Amino acid sequence: MLITDDIELRRAVPGDAQALADAAIRNVGHLRAIEPYRAEEYYTAAGQLARITQPGSATWLLLDGEKVVGRLMLSGIVLGPLCGASLGYWTDGDYLGRGLMPAAVEEVCRVARDELGLHRIEAGTLTDNKASQRVLAKCGFVEYGLAPDYLHVNGAWRDHVLFQRILHEDPPAHVPR
Ligand SMILES: CC(C)(COP(=O)(O)OP(=O)(O)OC[C@H]1O[C@@H](n2cnc3c(N)ncnc32)[C@H](O)[C@@H]1OP(=O)(O)O)[C@@H](O)C(=O)NCCC(=O)NCCS
Repeated sequence: MLITDDIELRRAVPGDAQALADAAIRNVGHLRAIEPYRAEEYYTAAGQLARITQPGSATWLLLDGEKVVGRLMLSGIVLGPLCGASLGYWTDGDYLGRGLMPAAVEEVCRVARDELGLHRIEAGTLTDNKASQRVLAKCGFVEYGLAPDYLHVNGAWRDHVLFQRILHEDPPAHVPR
């Protein structure tokens, strides 16, 4: 789907691995402060292919033509009584402030609810990541806690603010109606 006149959002496919690796390299500086340590392989097509095809995950790309200018990933997708997943995302450093990520998160939440059958999506941000907190607030995520020492980011265990969005109140598919 088109997010703006020129930016498309779609599910990642294996053939996107090289463009994703290129985007990861372009955005190293932009993402250093918020991302976990990445091994060399992360910046290769093979490393990105492994992530795209990782079981229990789903990846979406923001594309300006052939160029990857953003990525969203649902990981830890589980059904059963939880029906939940964790959301992570970034926008290319040259495409910030255009409202791309809130529009993309909204669409990913729709797919998670309507096509993946999920009930809840969670996301955690560094305490000072106001841009990401703003994206989550704009998309109806609710802050529900502070997790001390939650994630090893940029050389240290960092506190994170936790958010969630409830997508619907229907029972899980395996529960009799
Ligand atoms: C968070 C991120 C994805 C936002 O993407 P985006 O496509 O630029 O989203 P938007 O265009 O909606 O801009 C972000 C919003 O945060 C606001 N914002 C940006 N910096 C801010 C700051 N320092 N303090 C408060 N608000 C800020 C912007 O004004 C905008 O809100 P508005 O539309 O109400 O004005 C992008 O900044 C990014 O990639 N950051 C690095 C990766 C990251 O943090 N990922 C999330 C990890 S939890």
